[in-house]
Amino acid sequence: MEPPRMMLPSLPSRLVVLATIFLMVLLQTLIFMMSDTKEQTESQEMATKAATLDPGSANYPFLKDPQTVKYISTQIKVMIFLHVASDKEMSALAQAITSTYKDSATCCLKTSRGSEVKPFGGIVYHRCQDQIEDSCKKGVQVIVVNGTENIPSDLQDCFTLAHRYNYTTLVVQPNATSGHPGAAHGSHSELMQETLRTANAKPKLPTILYPFFYGWFLGFNISVDTLGFGKTIFKECLQQPKFVEIFTKYAIPGSPRNASGGLDFDRYFSLEGFITGTTLLHCTSFFSNYSERAGSQQYATSPAVRQATGRAFNLTVIGFLITPRTLGARIRLNDQELLLWETNSSATSDFTPVGAGNNVDKTMQQKQLQHLDQSQMPGQEISTFYPIRDEVPCPKGWRPTEFSPTCGRGSRAHLTLGTGKDVEAVQTGSDLNAIIQRELEAVAKKEDILTLKLKSGTVRCYGEGNWAVYLDKALEIGTLFTGWY
Ligand SMILES: *[C@@H]1O[C@H](CO)[C@@H](O)[C@H](O)[C@H]1NC(C)=O
Ligand SMILES: *[C@@H]1O[C@H](CO)[C@@H](O)[C@H](O)[C@H]1NC(C)=O
Ligand SMILES: *[C@@H]1O[C@H](CO)[C@@H](O)[C@H](O)[C@H]1NC(C)=O
Ligand SMILES: *[C@@H]1O[C@H](CO)[C@@H](O)[C@H](O)[C@H]1NC(C)=O
Ligand SMILES: *[C@@H]1O[C@H](CO)[C@@H](O)[C@H](O)[C@H]1NC(C)=O
Ligand SMILES: *[C@@H]1O[C@H](CO)[C@@H](O)[C@H](O)[C@H]1NC(C)=O
Ligand SMILES: *[C@@H]1O[C@H](CO)[C@@H](O)[C@H](O)[C@H]1NC(C)=O
Ligand SMILES: *[C@@H]1O[C@H](CO)[C@@H](O)[C@H](O)[C@H]1NC(C)=O
Repeated sequence: MEPPRMMLPSLPSRLVVLATIFLMVLLQTLIFMMSDTKEQTESQEMATKAATLDPGSANYPFLKDPQTVKYISTQIKVMIFLHVASDKEMSALAQAITSTYKDSATCCLKTSRGSEVKPFGGIVYHRCQDQIEDSCKKGVQVIVVNGTENIPSDLQDCFTLAHRYNYTTLVVQPNATSGHPGAAHGSHSELMQETLRTANAKPKLPTILYPFFYGWFLGFNISVDTLGFGKTIFKECLQQPKFVEIFTKYAIPGSPRNASGGLDFDRYFSLEGFITGTTLLHCTSFFSNYSERAGSQQYATSPAVRQATGRAFNLTVIGFLITPRTLGARIRLNDQELLLWETNSSATSDFTPVGAGNNVDKTMQQKQLQHLDQSQMPGQEISTFYPIRDEVPCPKGWRPTEFSPTCGRGSRAHLTLGTGKDVEAVQTGSDLNAIIQRELEAVAKKEDILTLKLKSGTVRCYGEGNWAVYLDKALEIGTLFTGWY
């Protein structure tokens, strides 16, 4: 069939129309850019100021990236520690941060800089800590702590304060990584020399502050919502008699019971007693153990980590796992997020290819094996579902499917929403690995897997009370990439 050619305007008039549209779009873009610039001028001026001192500081995502600025301004309370060598740089950074975030406060850990003698031992410090606590109580969105470069032994108290008041910690250490032989390479050492030149007062750069672990951290309300969603899914499952029957059968002995002696499902999973608290959630990317873990330095100084520290990311929750031991959210990392995952394919030789908290996992497995040995009654069925320590590699030619959505590098990524009696949080990753392994087997052998329909997805049982929930619609959650100190 002939298209209605006659209806189209002649070529020259079409060009005129196109040119007009193009000009209009251009004008709109310019207007948009101008108004945008106006709003950000102040903070950009500050950032530029900082940039003249440290060539890289203009790149701090919490100053530069609009999505990060928005996330920190509205969704997550952050305590920022300026672990910076030069006074000038520190002042510039502190000013840039406080002008970017209106609801912010600064406190200085050490007021009399340069003097080695602590006047009136600790009094200055206590005033600062009071100042920080005061800001915490007021719920100030961003608290800047400067003067941390000498690592006062009680810097830990500040971290503790941050945790107590539900603040997420962010240590700014701008590529300054001396004090650790081999940390300086290429452009990095050039930058160090540059910093040395500008920091005429102090030739010694601060050493790296290593966190307990790195990861993506959720703000308070997002954590509450995600926990709530997990609980709702668990409740939906509990409406299915088959689920209740199996779950009850494999429940950990000694789990909380209700008045009539049945399992108390509301209290079965809990975050009580974990160092990270009962509300704020996170997805671990690398377990550093305050630098004890092999590969900590490579991780801390990798370009990906340096550039992502203090940047907002959206994580994608594709499902949940419900096992006798753990309740967790399953995450699918995107390519950008995978660069921060502990076993980076391009740097595998630098990393011990083990899961976070490997030792804990090992202990756990041993404990379970012992438990099994002791509780094994004659004639009782032998357990086939073992938590798996390392990530399960994808088989050749694997493609994601509805009931095998992830495997391989990064597939261990999760949020722990709660654990059963006496179970460590690190267990969630091992349980997820084991579920992934069983998914692959089920697909390969075309196994018949018990499958139940939920309102927002599907739940499948992979044996011995180990269930995976597949969401019909993935959930995006805002996070901040940083470390837990
Ligand atoms: C740190 O170094 C990396 C790579 O050398 C660079 O891309 C980044 O902008 C620097 N960041 C800061 C805050 O200086
Ligand atoms: C967090 O939730 C509380 C209670 O629902 C609400 O009052 C507050 O505005 C929320 N905060 C943010 C940043 O959304
Ligand atoms: C640290 O912050 C305090 C409070 O804003 C300020 O008085 C002090 O000059 C700052 N110190 C440096 C080195 O920037
Ligand atoms: C106790 O829990 C069981 C399920 O484990 C439930 O059937 C029963 O109704 C609960 N009883 C009370 C008093 O909540
Ligand atoms: C911090 O969060 C916990 C819940 O995890 C809550 O009970 C506590 O009141 C919060 N503290 C502050 C100071 O907001
Ligand atoms: C992972 O590899 C990429 C590409 O080589 C690199 O840019 C990034 O810094 C690495 N990440 C880590 C944590 O080593
Ligand atoms: C995350 O998703 C929200 C909603 O789609 C979006 O507004 C925000 O810009 C995203 N943030 C990032 C860091 O991609
Ligand atoms: C962290 O390091 C300490 C000191 O080496 C060690 O005792 C501890 O077991 C480590 N923790 C984990 C979970 O690996």
